[in-house]
Amino acid sequence: MTWLVTGGAGYIGAHVVRSLLADGAEVVVLDDLSTGAASRVPPRTPFVQGSVLDRRLVAGALTEHRVDGVVHIAAKKQVGESMADPLLYYRENVEGLVALLDSCRDAGVDKVVFSSSAATYGLPDVDLVDEETRTAPLSPYGESKLVGEWLLRHCERAYGIRVLNLRYFNVAGAATPELGDVGVFNLIPMVFERLQAGRRPRVFGGDYPTPDGTCVRDYVHVADIADAHRVAARALESGATGATYNIGRGEGSSVLDVLRVIGEVTGRDTTPDVVDRRPGDPARIVADVRRIREGLGFTARHDLTAMVDSAWAGWQLRHP
Ligand code: WQD
Repeated sequence: MTWLVTGGAGYIGAHVVRSLLADGAEVVVLDDLSTGAASRVPPRTPFVQGSVLDRRLVAGALTEHRVDGVVHIAAKKQVGESMADPLLYYRENVEGLVALLDSCRDAGVDKVVFSSSAATYGLPDVDLVDEETRTAPLSPYGESKLVGEWLLRHCERAYGIRVLNLRYFNVAGAATPELGDVGVFNLIPMVFERLQAGRRPRVFGGDYPTPDGTCVRDYVHVADIADAHRVAARALESGATGATYNIGRGEGSSVLDVLRVIGEVTGRDTTPDVVDRRPGDPARIVADVRRIREGLGFTARHDLTAMVDSAWAGWQLRHP
């Protein structure tokens, strides 16, 4: 089977490409290199540089490479940026998906793994978020992912395009240092950046109703995220469709837990400055992971130390 991975030169996409290749799949990468890097595409893997919005380019890639299914990861993914520029997010993430699905329908490609997000849930007030928890996204980013899920549901019914949605929780780490996240938009790289500058890490709010007062998240290793895509792609090949899965570990870590592990891994003092809450942050968001475990046999294997350790190796490679 041949899978087109959109966003395959990005942080998550490059891991997914490797996971599919290791499983014996044929892979084609489509990426506009707006945030990805061509150096992340493995040698001998066909690479098409361009946007999912370019229908002619995508249609050509689907037929030329006889693509059987698409893992759609290409998207904008910063919550704050989506608040400042909602049109950008609706264009790239929603129109981008419309264009991609047009091309899939026309080319007879009938399998899609869709990269969705825990941002679809907004501010859940449950201990463990399962896939039936009410969706109430707080940002154009989260909305764009939820709209994507809705659109795919209709395309499944109308055109027979099979789909599995994967809602990622907090992705971290790297399979190898070269594949590390180059963005400094999430807790772990933001802490590394502060430490590197000789400054204290910041904790956004110490008065949340959580055991240590800091926000709790479900951090999941990008290699596990990649593995979930491989499993989902194989399930689609076997006829699965229509399900939405959380991808997390089902385990909560507070900001202070993460700082403690960063201190252990880096040997640096991670005593933080506790500053004001960041608007829109839920106190706690942790996945219920039973559905994907029972439905697809997938379980995340890496712990927080493995995530921080591998993220730190990548950071040091890029910031010697
Ligand atoms: C984690 C925790 C911060 C930096 C976002 C998106 C989500 C998903 C993943 C794409 C929070 C705290 C952070 C710092 C801190 N993206 N923090 N000091 O906000 O949970 O999730 O990325 O799908 O949709 O919303 O991730 O890494 O920004 O923050 O205290 O310097 O760390 O307040 O509690 P978040 P994050």
